[in-house]
Order: sequence, then structure tokens, then C-alpha cells
Amino acid sequence: MNNFIFENSTKVYFGKGCVKEYLDWLTGNYGENIMLCYGTGSIKNNGIYQEVTAILKSAGKNIFEFFDIMANPTYEKVLEGAKFAKENQIDLILGVGGGSVMDCCKAISIAAQYKGDIWEDFWIRRGKFDFEPLPLGVIVTVTGTGSECNGGAVITNKKEKVKMGRDYPQCNPKFALMDPTYTYSVSKFQMVSGSFDTLSHIMEIYFSEPDEDNVSDDIAEALMRSVICNLRAAIRNPKDYTARSNLMWSATMAENRIIKLGKRTDFACHQMEHQLGAYTDCNHGAGLAVLQPVYYRHIYKDGLVKFKRFAIHVWEVSTEGKNDEEIARAGVEALAAFIKEIGLPTTLQELGIDKTIDLKKIADSCGTISSGYKKMTQQEILQIFQECVS
Ligand code: NZQ
Ligand code: ZN
Repeated sequence: MNNFIFENSTKVYFGKGCVKEYLDWLTGNYGENIMLCYGTGSIKNNGIYQEVTAILKSAGKNIFEFFDIMANPTYEKVLEGAKFAKENQIDLILGVGGGSVMDCCKAISIAAQYKGDIWEDFWIRRGKFDFEPLPLGVIVTVTGTGSECNGGAVITNKKEKVKMGRDYPQCNPKFALMDPTYTYSVSKFQMVSGSFDTLSHIMEIYFSEPDEDNVSDDIAEALMRSVICNLRAAIRNPKDYTARSNLMWSATMAENRIIKLGKRTDFACHQMEHQLGAYTDCNHGAGLAVLQPVYYRHIYKDGLVKFKRFAIHVWEVSTEGKNDEEIARAGVEALAAFIKEIGLPTTLQELGIDKTIDLKKIADSCGTISSGYKKMTQQEILQIFQECVS
């Protein structure tokens, strides 16, 4: 394995009833003013808002609500949140939602404590933390990104047309409450898209050096098999607690830095999807579903050993009568078939993107990443986008 430093400061409280059991006690460690952040209203329809606010009120907290955090949160929303936090002398940010809410909260936690421009200093450049971000706690309501257990925040700067993530350990939530029953009300589309995002994170890590035996790859394979099997179970029965809890924890495991240890990691596909998102505001997991098999058809020959292993260990591809290249390719096609099976889009048009869109502009806005098996050129990125057109 390559050298590494491991750190994860988020304390996780996982399981049915964890919010009722721990939220009161956890918020007791902070002052009176809680900034309750949420999205566009799902938590009011499924009762989570009512449960959380009742606990906070009975704990004697002052609740300051900051809401309408959109999917693919914008830098403007972050600045609005930072202003709100400063005006109300917030002691703790409590994000209730999915990746979008959690990411927005992390960026707010920096911006509320910083005088400069956080986009310039912490997203474009990697600024130094000589201050403490506002403390953040999260309650997860939709799984997939793993944002609850890392310092990553993916923010869209609409003016610049850039969607970019940065992972600062200082931004790890202080605590994460994860009740799988909170995810029962998530739509099938979002459940599938979030789970594909998890699968994508694992693949982006797995498909990079080293290729010799290492613990991270072994865990990654187990996680991929778990996501595939539990997603099928949750599609059959959305209230299958075992399936939902496994999906929830797999999402965290994929992005809590554990399977990244000793790995170079790729994330080229994420980079392409983020820029597609910056231009079209498409759904993150669904965008990845369109791009990932096409991207892998471009690179599998450069990472043949690992792609062959993926085909056999994850998809149980039969090796009989096939050479290494055919086995590896069969693994990529098994992934593509799975995407169809779970009902995610397979073309840009199915993703809702108009055929007239300027794909060259989007391709040119993507950075090129050299840590995977093959460094894409801008021309090849464009080719990948073009192959996603139906
Ligand atoms: O707006 P609300 O009311 O929150 O509704 C959301 C939203 O419409 C809904 N939802 C959430 N919980 C629900 C629910 N609906 C019914 N019942 C519930 N219990 O689901 C929709 C999607 O929510 P969102 O938070 O946008 O989804 P997700 O968790 O997939 O987050 C996506 C964002 O995270 C970023 C993505 O790029 C995207 O901006 N990512 C963050 C990462 C990280 N921080 O580590 C890594 C990822 O690669 C990713 O880039
Ligand atoms: Zn992702």
C-alpha cells in the first residue's frame, strides 16, 4: 500500500430511533442558537422536521431556520447562509437532508467565520485554516454521497459555470445521526441515483493503482457487491430496513476516506459529471450513470488487471472461452446492464439534456486528472460526451 495519514473526526450515531435518542444530548454541548438547515420541503412532508424541531424546542434551543437549499447547492446560497449565521450569532449548524444540504452547510460553516472570499481562497486555491469553522451536526435523510462523514463540500459557482468539491478535515461534521427509516420516503429515482453515486465513488477509488493485493480494494469489492444486492432488495421493498441500512452505511464507507487509504484514486468521471452539472444542473447520480460505462470503455485496456478482477469478483463474469480483454470488457457491460436494470438514464437525452447543448464547451471546462489508469485529453473527454448522445 502507498503511505497514508488517516483522520476522521465525525462521531456517528446509527440506527432506528437515533435522532430521538441522541439529538437532545448532542446539542447540549453547544450554545442556544441552532441554525436548522434543510432543503425544499421533503422533511416537512415525511415528519422529520416535526420530530427534530420538537426535540430542539424541548431542549430550550432557539431555532433559526435556513431552508430552500437546492440540489447542487450554489455559492450564492452559501453566502446567504453565512450572512444569516453571522446575523443570528449561531452556535451550531444542524443540516437535515442529503448531500446538497450537508455540503452547503459545510461551506457556510467556513464562510461564516472567514472575512475573505471562500470560493477564491478555499475552492480555487487550497487556503489555510487558521480559524475554526462553525460547528456542524447533520441528520441524514437521503443516502449516497457520504458527505455525512467527510469534509467534502461540492458547490456550484453559477457565474463561473464551475461545480467543484473540496475536502477539508476541519469541515467534517462533529456528529452525524443516521436513521435508515428516515430514508423510506425517498423516491425510487433518488434512491437509485444516490446508490449509484455510492457505487461510483467506490469504482473511482478502486480503478487506480496500486493493483497488487491491498485491503482497500478488498473492502471496495465487498462494498460494491453489497450496494448491488441491497439496492435490488430496496427496489423490491422500499421499507426493507436491512437493505436501507446497508445502503446507508455503504454510502458512508465509500466516502469516509477508509477505502481511499493507500490508493491514488481517479475521480475523472466525477470531474466530467460535475461540469455537466454546472452547465445543466442535472442530477448527480444519474449523470454519473450516463458517463461511467462510456468512460470505462475508454480506459479498461489501460487498467486490464483491475477491470478483469472487477468483472470476476463483482459481477461473477464467467471466464470460460474469454481472454483477459474480453473478461474485462464483460465487467463494464455488466455495469451498463445494471444501470438499465435499475432504471437510470443511459444517454444525455434521457438525462433531460437537449441535443443542441455545446458539449465542446463543457468538455473544455473539465480539468484533466492524471491519477487514474489513463489521463484523458480534452478531445477524449469530448468524445465521451458525444458517445453519451442517443
Ligand atoms: O430538497 P429536499 O427537501 O432536501 O429534497 C431532496 C432532494 O429533492 C430529496 N430528499 C432528501 N431526503 C428525502 C428526500 N425526499 C424524500 N424523503 C427524504 N427523506 O432528495 C432530493 C435530492 O437530495 P440531494 O441532497 O440533492 O441528493 P444527494 O444526497 O444525492 O446530494 C447531491 C449533491 O451532493 C454532491 C453532488 O454533487 C450534489 O451536489 N456530492 C457531494 C459529495 C460529498 N460531499 O462528499 C460527493 C459526491 O460525489 C457528490 O458530488
Ligand atoms: Zn458522487
